[in-house]
Amino acid sequence: MIEWREKMSIDDGGIIDQDHRHLIEIINRFETLAADGLSRGEAREVLYALKFYTETHFGREEQLQNMVNYPDAADHHQEHRELIKALDDVLLHLEETDDAHLDRVHAETAHLLHDWLVGHILHSDLKMRVYVAQMSKHAENFGALKDLEVIPE
Ligand SMILES: [Fe+2]
Ligand SMILES: [Fe+2]
Repeated sequence: MIEWREKMSIDDGGIIDQDHRHLIEIINRFETLAADGLSRGEAREVLYALKFYTETHFGREEQLQNMVNYPDAADHHQEHRELIKALDDVLLHLEETDDAHLDRVHAETAHLLHDWLVGHILHSDLKMRVYVAQMSKHAENFGALKDLEVIPE
């Protein structure tokens, strides 16, 4: 399970932190379900929801970076594209896994998603901290991801 830690905070509880916490909740949900034995359909549902929220979050983060002329924007956007590609690979891998190996692959997927998101937050998103004051006035136009309500319960 991913535990939210203060050192992950980018904007002191603002829209970026709220988004990250929501993405962490989805990944934790996947891990909890996977521990109980997750059907292919359930796994697909949670992972597509994760993909939707991730794309939405990356999109708004990129918008905020563009609005403040963030110097690392090009590299950061490239990293987002690679993360989405990694998520697509996970989805493809699950579809290609036979039923007998599904539990093992789900457990591996939970680990991979953990590293995937936490790694990006700690290594790349944290560098935005110094621009957050500038970003926050633009961020007022965004609602929190958790209010979009696409995630299956
Ligand atoms: Fe982020
Ligand atoms: Fe990011």
